[in-house]
Amino acid sequence: MPASASWRPSAMDKPFDRICVMGLGYIGLPTAATLASRGVDVIGVDVNESVVAKISEGQSHFSEPDLDMLVRSAVSTERLRAVSEPEPADAFLVAVPTPFRADHNADLSCVEAAARAIARVLEPGNLVILESTCPVGTTLRFCEWIAEESPDLRLPHEEPANPDINVTYCPERILPGRMILELVENDRIIGGMTETCARRAEELYEIFVKGTLHVSNASTAELVKLTENAYRDVNIAFANELSMVCEKLDVDVWEAIDLANRHPRVNILKPGPGVGGHCIAIDPWFLIANAPEETRLMQAARRVNDVKSHAVLERVRRQMRRFREPVVACLGLSYKPDVDDLRESPALHIVEELARDDEMQLLVVEPHLKTLPATLAEAIHVEKVEMNDALSRADILVLLVGHREFRKVDMRKIYERVVIDTVGLWRVDRGEPR
Ligand SMILES: NC(=O)c1ccc[n+]([C@@H]2O[C@H](COP(=O)([O-])OP(=O)(O)OC[C@H]3O[C@@H](n4cnc5c(N)ncnc54)[C@H](O)[C@@H]3O)[C@@H](O)[C@H]2O)c1
Repeated sequence: MPASASWRPSAMDKPFDRICVMGLGYIGLPTAATLASRGVDVIGVDVNESVVAKISEGQSHFSEPDLDMLVRSAVSTERLRAVSEPEPADAFLVAVPTPFRADHNADLSCVEAAARAIARVLEPGNLVILESTCPVGTTLRFCEWIAEESPDLRLPHEEPANPDINVTYCPERILPGRMILELVENDRIIGGMTETCARRAEELYEIFVKGTLHVSNASTAELVKLTENAYRDVNIAFANELSMVCEKLDVDVWEAIDLANRHPRVNILKPGPGVGGHCIAIDPWFLIANAPEETRLMQAARRVNDVKSHAVLERVRRQMRRFREPVVACLGLSYKPDVDDLRESPALHIVEELARDDEMQLLVVEPHLKTLPATLAEAIHVEKVEMNDALSRADILVLLVGHREFRKVDMRKIYERVVIDTVGLWRVDRGEPR
């Protein structure tokens, strides 16, 4: 739509009666449902037809505390409508995936597709917010894609003083398992392409955010998001490296960390089987791609966290050699405790690697999944079992995820087994069964 010559948006313009959310996944759906719960008419857009169908029935397509209830209420009151194409609105919020390619560079094709799709329905005065995690400089490219698609609109990178459309980058930092709570309570960084863009986005987040809204520019907000996850990755890498040192030196890593953390300025994180999830295992690569020469520590951390998964695998294989027909039970597949999310999961990676060996019997316990993922479901030597079954049948127990359910295990039942506890839940790590 052509820009009107006389009309220009101002920060105090129209309220946000109608908001279009692009991408109804882990971030977009809770955001859409929360906005709807505050009385906003929300158009939820997803390219995945099955996602649209499920939400249209008033259900979430993934498990997250309180989300089903929120979606059911938003859909039944007709505040949230799921569709496949964007429609005109006062504001657009983009939360589409940003995976990485085989070369670790960001795959921005979904962000580009979303930008071009909304460009076709944008009107002067609209606000567009990019929430997807992106390399520094992506919000500028996002503006360029919109401008290419709708050349009549003035975007803030070309007309910072007087744009038709306000564009802002506002990263998300909610934790799966606590999303609905954190969406409201967390502080937000609002990175405007201009100060007016940021102020306008601030008005939108005031609809539902109780945390403090920190206004900055787009590049800073992009960098801050990546920095948060790179910081976590580096610190987990330290813990994982330490766990490998301890194994070599035959020292109990959990006790060593407990004792070191008694120092008033030391706080070592917990080691694990590697690092997974959609964020920490991926986002540091975006910053590394932005500044390859300057990110030696971040690159080393990524390698250490990957090496840790191989070290766990090797350890399991060493133990397996002690049995003629080993039965190995792997406990947990998700990338973190108490969720069903398998993205970049080191536990899943370890189990998939073990499953290549069809000489062994592999039992998998995952209380958060009804069935095994496709990569494991076909193999006849791999079986999804209940915890008690695993405890009675396995020679080797490999604890890969600290699910709440695994805490309840009767310790007397694991004494006869080889135990590899990668997360320190049982604090039993024993090559030799008693
Ligand atoms: N999941 C998290 O905990 C988390 C936390 C912080 C930031 N992020 C970031 O938020 C972004 C979204 O992540 P997510 O976990 O919600 O992803 P997701 O895969 O759960 O959901 C994204 C949805 O977008 C849809 N989609 C893809 N292309 C589209 C398009 N062009 N138009 C409309 N819909 C489209 C997909 O079908 C999918 O349903 C990513 O950049 C991610 O890094 C995620």
